[in-house]
Formats: sequence, structure tokens, C-alpha cells
Amino acid sequence: MKIDILTLFPEMFTGFLNTSIIKRAIDKSLVEINLHNFREFTLDKHKHVDDYPYGGGQGMVLMCQPIVDCLKTTVDDDSFVILMSPQGTTLNHGVAQKLSTFKHLVIICGHYEGFDERVRDYVDLELSIGDYVLTGGELSSMVVSDAIIRLLDGAIRQESHDDDSFAAGLLEYPQYTRPFSYDGNDVPEVLLSGHHENIRKWRKYQSLKKTYIKRPDLLENYEFNEEELKMLAEIEEKH
Ligand SMILES: C[S@@+](CC[C@H](N)C(=O)[O-])C[C@H]1O[C@@H](n2cnc3c(N)ncnc32)[C@H](O)[C@@H]1O
Repeated sequence: MKIDILTLFPEMFTGFLNTSIIKRAIDKSLVEINLHNFREFTLDKHKHVDDYPYGGGQGMVLMCQPIVDCLKTTVDDDSFVILMSPQGTTLNHGVAQKLSTFKHLVIICGHYEGFDERVRDYVDLELSIGDYVLTGGELSSMVVSDAIIRLLDGAIRQESHDDDSFAAGLLEYPQYTRPFSYDGNDVPEVLLSGHHENIRKWRKYQSLKKTYIKRPDLLENYEFNEEELKMLAEIEEKH
């Protein structure tokens, strides 16, 4: 996969691209990430990329020309263009999974008061990372890229994905590591039993219980099997 990111602040990506799983995915050529500063494309003699809003109002608006000219140098027939925006579709596991199947993503990061509305004519998807406003699209584009890259084959072990929260529609079960006893709290005995079937059942039950307590909305569209339905009935009775 290739991801081209259009940004006024490429230096913000240094840590992201050079750390941990994302760095390893780049080193293994699972993903290529290119940063483009669209200020380099402005035709303004003072290198401005923004201007005052028509009609008046606070702040500065990013102009179409530098962004669209920069975009034209990165896109081809395989490209899918994303505009980072608080007004867009909200990112979730399903959206990340779909985006991880594309060959080439181009992500545009806004700043200041956002974009001239006409920039939207050049994008395939407007994407938000939640109902709040950031100062720029750099952090949100890193969030989106991170969520996608960890889903690419070979980025992390497949089994890690399978049990992750949201992957199968539920929250993940509780995890423990050494020591066995910490501040008076012991690890549940079943996890030390070596009995794989009992561990599987315990994890499924805990996963359902966590979801029932913290995110009951996820259960509304969940397709329960018989075992899960019995577990849910027990959880409902106890809570
Ligand atoms: C200050 S915001 C502009 C917000 C714009 N005035 C509005 O109300 O819709 C500047 C830029 O940060 C990015 N951004 C801010 N919040 C975001 C969010 N929740 N999700 C994705 N990108 C966001 C977008 O690229 C946006 O153009």
C-alpha cells in the first residue's frame, strides 16, 4: 500500500514514521508513506496557502490552488483521496478495514479554519476521527494511517487482530501478565490451568460481559451463536 499525505507540517510526522510497528511496516515495505508540503505548490509570490474568508469572519481558509495542484501530482487511477475533516464520516474499525484494502490512499490535512469548500470536489471521502475539532489534520491523518497500517498483512500477528476489540464485534477480554499477584489482586486461575477450552470459554464470557457493561450498543447488531446467547442470559441475570 502507498499513502501520500498532503500537509503544511511534514515535521510532525517524524516520530510517527520512525517508531515501533509503523516503522517496521515501512522497513518491511508493507507500506510506503510520502509527505508532500502543498505550500511548495502555491502560485502566490509570498508563498501563502490561505486567505481571508469571503463574507468575513474569523480565521483563514486554505485555498484550492496549492492543494489541488499538489493533489494532481500524486493521484492516478488507483488513488482514493481522503480529506481530514470534523464534518466527515467517523472513523471506526469497519472504515479502517475497508481503507486497508486500497492500493493507494491520498490524505489531505487541513489547518486554520479549514478548506475552501471547492476542495471537496476533488476528494472521495471526507473522514473525521470524532466529534471535536483539532487544530490541524496531521494528528487525525496519523490516527487513520495507524489504524489502517496495523491491519495490513504482516504488520502484526493475525491472531492479535482476531481478538482485538471491534474485530469480531465485541470488546476484547481482560488480559494479564506477570506477576501472578499484584497489590493483593491475583490473575484468574483459569488462565494458568493450561485448559484451552476453559480459557476460550472464560475469554468469550468476559468479552461479552465487558461489551454488555461498557458498550451495549455493540450488541444490538451482534450475531450471537447459541453458546454466546446462554452466556449473555447469565450476564444479564447477574447484572
Ligand atoms: C480547526 S480545523 C477546521 C474546522 C472547520 N472550521 C470546521 O468547523 O469544520 C482544521 C483542520 O483540522 C482537521 N481536523 C480537525 N478536527 C478534525 C477531526 N475531528 N477529524 C479529522 N480532522 C480534523 C481538518 O483537516 C481541518 O480542516
